[in-house]
Amino acid sequence: MSRPVLVLNGPNLGRLGRRQPEIYGTTTHAELAQRCVAWGAALGLAVEVRQTNHEGEMLDWLNDAADTGTPVVLNAAAWTHYSYAIYDACAQLTAPLIEVHLSEPLQRPEVFRHTSVVTPHAAQVIAGHGVDGYRQALEALAALTGESGSSGTDR
Ligand code: DQA
Repeated sequence: MSRPVLVLNGPNLGRLGRRQPEIYGTTTHAELAQRCVAWGAALGLAVEVRQTNHEGEMLDWLNDAADTGTPVVLNAAAWTHYSYAIYDACAQLTAPLIEVHLSEPLQRPEVFRHTSVVTPHAAQVIAGHGVDGYRQALEALAALTGESGSSGTDR
C-alpha cells in the first residue's frame, strides 16, 4: 500500500522553467510534479505535489501534515531564509521532513541565502542537485519511513 507524502513548494517555484533557468533549470513545475509522482510510485509512496505563493496556505498545509503524520519534502524557497512562521510550523511536524533546494543556497553570493529556518527541523538537506534533488529526497523519505529505498543520511 502506498504511503502518502507531500512535496510542498514555496514562492516563485510555480515559474520553474521560465524563472532564471541558468540557476533553476528548464523543467517546469508541472513536469517536476509528474516526475515526483512517478518517482514516489516506484518507491511505494503516494506523492502529492503542491505549490503556493501564499505563506498562510503553506502554513495550513504544514499544520495539516503535522496533524496527519504525513512526511514532507519542503522547498520553502525564499521563506527558507527568514520565515519564523515556517520555522514554527516545521517544528510541529511529526513525520520526517526533507529540505530541498534546486540550487545550493550556501554557494550563492547573497548572504541572506546562507540561513535556513527549515534545516534545524530537517532529517536531511538536499541542495544543488536540481530536479533530481526531489528524487533523492523521496528516496531518503522512503528509507526513513521504513520501506524501499536506499540509506538515509541523518544529520
Ligand atoms: C531555492 C533557493 C532559494 O534561495 C530561493 O529563494 C528560491 C529557490 C532553490 O530551490 O534553489 O526561491 O529554494
